[in-house]
Amino acid sequence: MSKRFYITTAIDYVNGEPHLGHAYEKIITDVIARAHVAMGEEVFFLTGLDEHGQKVEQTAVRAGKPTQQFCDELAATWQAFAKKLGLINADFVRTTSEQHKRVVQTVLSRLNDAGQFERRHHKGWYSTKEETFLTDKDRNEDGTWDAKWGEVIELEEDNFYFFLGKHQQWLIDHIEANPDFVQPDYRRNEVLGFLKNNDLADLCSSRPKERLSWGIPFPFDENYVTYVWFDALTNYISIPAAHGDSCVLDGLGLKAADFDKGAEGLSLWPADVHVIGKDILRFHTVYWPIMLKAMGLPLPKQVLVHGWWQKAGEKMSKTTGNVVEPIAVIDEWGLDAFRFYVVKELDIGPDGNWTDDGFASRYSAELANGLGNLVNRSLKMLGRYRDGKVPARNDELAKEVEAAVAETVEHLKSAKLQAGLQTIWRLIDRANQYVDQTAPFKLAKDPEQSSRLDEVLYNLAETVRGLAVLLWPYLPDASTKIYRQLGLGGEPNRLSLANWGGLTEGHQIGEPEPLFPRKDLAKKD
Ligand code: ME8
Ligand code: MG
Repeated sequence: MSKRFYITTAIDYVNGEPHLGHAYEKIITDVIARAHVAMGEEVFFLTGLDEHGQKVEQTAVRAGKPTQQFCDELAATWQAFAKKLGLINADFVRTTSEQHKRVVQTVLSRLNDAGQFERRHHKGWYSTKEETFLTDKDRNEDGTWDAKWGEVIELEEDNFYFFLGKHQQWLIDHIEANPDFVQPDYRRNEVLGFLKNNDLADLCSSRPKERLSWGIPFPFDENYVTYVWFDALTNYISIPAAHGDSCVLDGLGLKAADFDKGAEGLSLWPADVHVIGKDILRFHTVYWPIMLKAMGLPLPKQVLVHGWWQKAGEKMSKTTGNVVEPIAVIDEWGLDAFRFYVVKELDIGPDGNWTDDGFASRYSAELANGLGNLVNRSLKMLGRYRDGKVPARNDELAKEVEAAVAETVEHLKSAKLQAGLQTIWRLIDRANQYVDQTAPFKLAKDPEQSSRLDEVLYNLAETVRGLAVLLWPYLPDASTKIYRQLGLGGEPNRLSLANWGGLTEGHQIGEPEPLFPRKDLAKKD
């Protein structure tokens, strides 16, 4: 079976409701996934939940619920959220599932057999919030602990340490030889700087059960559970194993028959892209590659790192009420408007700032007056002047549309999503300008201009069709609606459909309907 384009998001802690940051990560991943579908590839998009560890356990205790029940209830909320965002994810991983636990335990046992762990006694400082041991390097300059660590306590205990240090030079060499492995470049430089200036401490991969019971039992010592990050990162291979991926199964000595969906025999690993936020860079570009190296599995091709959103210039916080509620925004403005705003507003990399005014003004200028108006007036005029029948082909805008298609495809290939939308919107602006310049409403009044009117109406309808295709990865609803209004069946989900000349003479279009109703007008009813 041929290898699929395999793309993942981080898996979210199931200790609260989904917020804008989670929505953003899922949407950019979905746009990239859809772009690869549109390029004709088979795609497997994975997202899901990180259910173990102290954070989740403490939240469940506070909610007064048994931890598994707490996770099950919230998992339903998060799965519904993935639907609400229109994601084309092929599976939804939960780290409390039996199949995931089995793979994590296999990984631990094999690494232990290969001598990759050492039991050690350690006395030191521990952040319960981040579930990690700290060193003096983690202190503020004045010797205090930063608020991000939460409560810091002194702990003395035995644990199992996974050797990281001996792979340090190998990892530096890998990142230097593979510029695409960590993107954007400034994140790659950040990891390289860290690796070149610090000796990697071995990773504490266990937690004593008496202190934390909510985790995957350590297979070679029942008094311990697995450190939550060791467990969580493994999701990226446990799901391929569960779908019968032979690269992972053979690498770990597992059998497809041990998994419900093993017979599918999908080919997924290595991942093409892990999409993550900047705060979890080190886990994905230091710990994870070394874990894979120690297991003898190939590395993912890319870790793509996005920035963090704030609202109106401040950190989002439930206590101050300064939050964006993705579901409320979608219910009020529509899914495509939400997807559009987050991708057009923020490139993958820097931090972003959500403002309600910025959202409303992009909606009005770019969606209602830009795209919506172009589609609506183009199709309405075709209806009014030609009974909705497409005139003979004319190529006046063909070159410009072809150039925009080629440019958008290049951007999509390199996950330059914001740049892709900018290219698409330049074409929308150009087509709206074409309407103003050619003034079809005037041509329609002059019988001698009838063939000129045919030309203009063809160019507009065909440009609108090309736009529907280009927009599919970003705004799947609007894209499909445009296709329907053009009287076309199927989904505009292949970029090859954007080739000029798809509309044929005499084709009957459907009914035009506003795609993005103007909010000021809609409020009056
Ligand atoms: O870190 N803006 O889970 P998580 C943008 N379980 N992105 C944001 C954000 C914001 N304001 N807040 C969070 C975890 N994120 C682990 C991951 S992966 C094997 C385990 C992003 O729920 C964050 O950067 O805290 C991360 O990529 C994702 O949301 C999940 O964060
Ligand atoms: Mg977090």
